[in-house]
Amino acid sequence: MTANTANTAHTASTGFTGWITRESPDGHSATLEELDSGILEDRDTTLRVHYSSVNYKDALALQGRPGVVRRLPLVPGIDVTGEVVGSRHPLWREGDMVTLNGAGLGEDRHGGLAELATVDGGDLVAVPAPFTPAQAAAVGTAGFTAALGLLALERQGLAPEHGPVLVTGAGGGVGSIAVALLAHAGYEVIAATGRPELLHDRLTALGAAQVVDRAELAPKGRPLAKQRWAGVVDAVGGPVLAGALAGLRHSGTATTCGNAASAEFPGNVLPFILRGVALIGIDSVRTPRGRREAAWQLLARHLDPALLDGVTRTIPLAAVQDAAAGMLAGQGTGRIVVDVRAR
Ligand SMILES: NC(=O)c1ccc[n+]([C@@H]2O[C@H](COP(=O)([O-])OP(=O)(O)OC[C@H]3O[C@@H](n4cnc5c(N)ncnc54)[C@H](OP(=O)(O)O)[C@@H]3O)[C@@H](O)[C@H]2O)c1
Repeated sequence: MTANTANTAHTASTGFTGWITRESPDGHSATLEELDSGILEDRDTTLRVHYSSVNYKDALALQGRPGVVRRLPLVPGIDVTGEVVGSRHPLWREGDMVTLNGAGLGEDRHGGLAELATVDGGDLVAVPAPFTPAQAAAVGTAGFTAALGLLALERQGLAPEHGPVLVTGAGGGVGSIAVALLAHAGYEVIAATGRPELLHDRLTALGAAQVVDRAELAPKGRPLAKQRWAGVVDAVGGPVLAGALAGLRHSGTATTCGNAASAEFPGNVLPFILRGVALIGIDSVRTPRGRREAAWQLLARHLDPALLDGVTRTIPLAAVQDAAAGMLAGQGTGRIVVDVRAR
């Protein structure tokens, strides 16, 4: 990367294909349309999008559910991986392959499920070796969030010798990548899933030492359980998180990023005041640049691209609604990459 002298990121009006969410009688709905680049915000860097992905938030936005889309009309897609076609930002020049997770994409600014995107250069990360652009999209927000979870645990002092780490929602995007990442980084991983029989072999192949049924974690009225794990990466919330905290060893740390089960936290203060545990929230959207870089470096060190390929399927832009419906029905596994240029 060298400084780019071009002073126009986004010039002549041009047509492009993309998903767009618009107001509808019962809220909002998304359609695939021919759009004009005049709708894009004036940001310092313009990307030709190669890949996006389908995350839980994208599924909510595409299926007209509330909680993600904060303005209309809006191009959905919280991830974007693509090629710089113009930039006023000193870090980037034409042809650089970059990736961006969150930063408001697909929530309060146009996102990645379209052939063109405008972004702030200060948020971008260069696609790091050993990943191809498609693999960077497979990592996406889910993998980026898993990496932020591991960074948070290690900032609290967690190390492999302190004991196992529990990953909840292990069959999903965040969970699958968390299992692979933690295992490669030397942790003993306990993977909790609602589909233990179906996913046992897959999670073991990713590096899980044990696969447990998430029903086993429900607190059953007891605020404290046997101390089993030293850390937790939770993506589901609800009673599963309460159970994960009940089984956390003294001075252990849990991170929570998601609410796939519930946004409620039917927990108890006893793990905090009798075992000195910590619970840390993860917000991938507003992550500062330094931490973005650190998370991607961690992924480059500890996420085997071949394992990533094994939990990824790739779909064309037109197929994202079916993928979103399956994800909200809890039928998804691993990661879904959207090849924005495929027809
Ligand atoms: N805070 C952030 O920055 C951030 C970033 C990324 C994601 N998230 C959130 O993290 C969560 C997971 O995202 P994802 O992309 O991994 O989604 P995903 O691929 O759909 O995975 C979610 C997993 O959660 C489990 N699950 C689903 N319904 C459940 C239920 N009723 N009770 C318990 N577990 C259930 C399932 O795991 P099993 O198949 O193993 O049963 C499912 O595969 C979502 O809530 C998402 O919004 C937050």
